[in-house]
Amino acid sequence: MLTITAAAEIYCQQAHFASIYQTLNHYINSYPDCELQLDDNGFLQLQADKILAKKPFTIQFSNLIKRLHHIQQRQLHGEFLIKLLGKQQLFIIDGTAGFGRDSFLMAAAGHKIQAYEQNPLIALLLIDALNKPYQDPRILTACKLVNISATRLNSEQLANYPEDATLYIDPMFIHEQRKKVKTEKYSQFLQSLNQHNSHTDSLPNFLTLFAESRLETIIIKQSDHDSRDAALLLNHLGQKVRLHQHVMGSGFAFRKYNKC
Ligand SMILES: C[S@@+](CC[C@H](N)C(=O)[O-])C[C@H]1O[C@@H](n2cnc3c(N)ncnc32)[C@H](O)[C@@H]1O
Repeated sequence: MLTITAAAEIYCQQAHFASIYQTLNHYINSYPDCELQLDDNGFLQLQADKILAKKPFTIQFSNLIKRLHHIQQRQLHGEFLIKLLGKQQLFIIDGTAGFGRDSFLMAAAGHKIQAYEQNPLIALLLIDALNKPYQDPRILTACKLVNISATRLNSEQLANYPEDATLYIDPMFIHEQRKKVKTEKYSQFLQSLNQHNSHTDSLPNFLTLFAESRLETIIIKQSDHDSRDAALLLNHLGQKVRLHQHVMGSGFAFRKYNKC
C-alpha cells in the first residue's frame, strides 16, 4: 500500500494536483509498498525500496534539458521518434504519457502535445516534473497532461483536436528484453506501478479508439518481441491502413500507419 508523508499530502492538495490526488486516494491500496515524499527542494519523490534499491524516484527532465542545450536541433531530429514525425509542426495525442520522456522530446522538437496518463501516481509525478522551476518554458506551453484513460475518450472529445492530429502510443512492453539495466529498471518500475491497475489498456483498445475516430495517423512503438501486427488488427476492425513509414531502434521500432 502507498503511504504519503504529511508534507507530500499538503503539497498534493494544491489546486493543480487536486483532481489527480483525489483519484490517487481512491486507488491507494492498489499500489505496491512505496512512500510519496518531498525531496529537499520541495518536489515529489517516490520511495520504492523493493524495486528501486533504495534510490528514491522522481521524474527529472533536467538531464534531457541539459542535453537539449548542448545538441543542435539537427541532432534532436536524429532521435528515432522525432525523425519519424518529420519537420512539420504536428498536434500529437500521446495516449500513454508514462514518465513523459517521449512527450518531452516531441515538445522540444516543436510539436504540440496533449498527453494522457491513466495512472494517478505517475500523472502526479509528471505534473510535478512539469512544474519544476528549471523547466524549459517551451515545453510547459507545448505539453498538456490529463489524468484519464485515453481509450475512454469518445468521438466528441476527440473531435476537439485538429483533424490532422496524430495518435502516439507506447504500450507497456509485455516481454521487456532491453539490454540496458537502467531501462529495465525504468520499465519494471512502470509495470509494477500498473500491475494492480485494471485501467491499463492494451494495444487493441487503442486501435479500436483510432479506428472509430476521424484521426488519420497513428504511431506505435513496439518491441521486437511483440508480434501483434497493428495493420492486421485494424483490418479486423474494418479499418484499412497502410504502413507509411517506420524506424528501427535496438530492440524496438516506431511504426506510422495512415488510414487508406
Ligand atoms: C510504456 S509507458 C509509456 C512511456 C512513455 N512513452 C515515456 O516516454 O515515458 C506506458 C504508460 O501508458 C499508460 N497507459 C496505459 N494505458 C493508458 C490509457 N488508456 N490512457 C492513458 N495512459 C495509459 C501506463 O499507465 C504507462 O504509464
